Amino acid sequence: MEMRELGRSGLKVSPVCLGGNVFGWTADQKASFAVLDEFLGSGGNFIDTADVYSTWAPGHKGGESETVLGQWLKSRGNRDKVILATKVGSDMGQGRKGLKPPYIAQAVEDSLKRLQTDYIDLYQSHRDDLETPQEETLEAYGKLIKAGKVRAIGASNFTPERLAAALALSKNGLPRYESLQPEYNLYERAGYEKELEPLCAKEKVGVIGYFGLASGFLTGKYRSEADFAKSQRGEDMGQYFNERGFRILKALDQVAAETKSTPAQVAVAWLIARPSVTAPIVSATKLEQCQDLVKAMRLKLSAAQIEALNMASAA
Ligand SMILES: NC(=O)c1ccc[n+]([C@@H]2O[C@H](COP(=O)([O-])OP(=O)(O)OC[C@H]3O[C@@H](n4cnc5c(N)ncnc54)[C@H](OP(=O)(O)O)[C@@H]3O)[C@@H](O)[C@H]2O)c1
Repeated sequence: MEMRELGRSGLKVSPVCLGGNVFGWTADQKASFAVLDEFLGSGGNFIDTADVYSTWAPGHKGGESETVLGQWLKSRGNRDKVILATKVGSDMGQGRKGLKPPYIAQAVEDSLKRLQTDYIDLYQSHRDDLETPQEETLEAYGKLIKAGKVRAIGASNFTPERLAAALALSKNGLPRYESLQPEYNLYERAGYEKELEPLCAKEKVGVIGYFGLASGFLTGKYRSEADFAKSQRGEDMGQYFNERGFRILKALDQVAAETKSTPAQVAVAWLIARPSVTAPIVSATKLEQCQDLVKAMRLKLSAAQIEALNMASAA
């Protein structure tokens, strides 16, 4: 397995990051453990979660995903084999949100407790906080790094301007965002490729895009409205049902046939092949889905196949 350095952090990660929002939500503890065992056992080491997962589910209050991950790390005794990423800043309710130093200091303790560990490899700002000066946030992260609670920091959902401003501040001794987590997949390209991609490439910021499979659309399992019932996520698939969406599926089918793989594997392999991308983040709720992810880590597309996918997905 080819491991990749995340930005300039020194962290070596697998070319796919396992998305954690499903743990304790659409994947119960047993299914989550099966997916996690398969991923780690097949050479993956990079796992992404957030304190806020899964507040949106009825009856949930946040922390469910971190809790399942903590139980898994404890039961397997494998903390040193995992590069663990989590996030702070999204709204946890009762005023718990944002990137102010006192809040970060509290939130990190809560995450560490749920994760049953004493350090986080990659601690990310889940979204920008325009009410808090970026220096203050970076200083707060600097204290956590100094205390050994965090190894590196990352940003998610930042505009190019705000990420560039944060990176400029880091040139004066503050810790640096070593990764960016934008939405990025074969269907959603422009938001990342236009300005964020050149910035990240120039500054050597690792890119770990989310929604690698467009929540399942790029697996090809949703081809008509009757397929929406296949999953809880089905109701959001209508947004991809247009000429371009189906053109992308056709190209994925073609390359999957050529490589004897699946559309899901090809969609992930296309992301892995993009020079600016360190590791796409993709989640799996079942063992078979995770096996697709694992195969994608080893699937090499030809230049002609990448070009065919680029053309099909061009806006
Ligand atoms: N930074 C942010 O703001 C942000 C936002 C969103 C997500 N994220 C991160 O990105 C991760 C990935 O996002 P996501 O899970 O929402 O979207 P995704 O990775 O695009 O979609 C994954 C979903 O597709 C389905 N799937 C996966 N492999 C499959 C296969 N081989 N065949 C058929 N279906 C398959 C599964 O859903 P079913 O259960 O429906 O089959 C799975 O949960 C999250 O876990 C999270 O860590 C970050």
